[in-house]
Amino acid sequence: MKPPDKREVRENYDELGGGLYDLRYEDEQSRKYDAAVLLTLLRGDDLFLDNGCGTGMFLRRVDSPCVGLDLTAGLLSAARQKLKPNHYLMQGDSEHLPFRAGVFHGVYAVTLIQNLPDKGLAVSEMRRASRVHAVLFITALKAAFDREYLAVLLEGKGFSKVDIVGDAGTNDWIACAHV
Ligand SMILES: C[S@@+](CC[C@H](N)C(=O)[O-])C[C@H]1O[C@@H](n2cnc3c(N)ncnc32)[C@H](O)[C@@H]1O
Repeated sequence: MKPPDKREVRENYDELGGGLYDLRYEDEQSRKYDAAVLLTLLRGDDLFLDNGCGTGMFLRRVDSPCVGLDLTAGLLSAARQKLKPNHYLMQGDSEHLPFRAGVFHGVYAVTLIQNLPDKGLAVSEMRRASRVHAVLFITALKAAFDREYLAVLLEGKGFSKVDIVGDAGTNDWIACAHV
């Protein structure tokens, strides 16, 4: 299968637009956010990254300081409407995170990785940007990934523990990787 082309990915999401994205995917994505909140600790002043934040539906659930990063300007404008004062948005590429090493207490990547040409590089980048004891919460479309592939993607990246949690009644496999 042809690897995703970033320009096409961005144009497709821009064309869909934030309003339609939320209408179409809010129920499905919300079940993944419920799992994220249950499985990870979103503590007070900790700093989080929502990698591939799209229209900011997960950011709306987070009261802690958080950076939302996404490739698609159209979706980031929709995210801007949902921001809290301690949230920041950046346009950027998940394969080349524009952050120093060891900054985030937790990294969330919800239904992002099917869009990336180099999924391994993106996982390494999330690991690099994470602090000691951080948790990476990552979900992967079942239509594009089998469970073992997600496990293989996370192995050998320097995590102390990787749990493939299951699907929590969603269309994605869900994993937590502990630094
Ligand atoms: C299925 S949406 C998921 C969005 C959001 N996480 C959610 O829960 O609704 C995939 C997102 O990944 C973003 N994306 C795709 N390729 C990217 C890249 N290379 N870097 C950053 N974001 C990217 C898209 O713009 C889109 O917002």
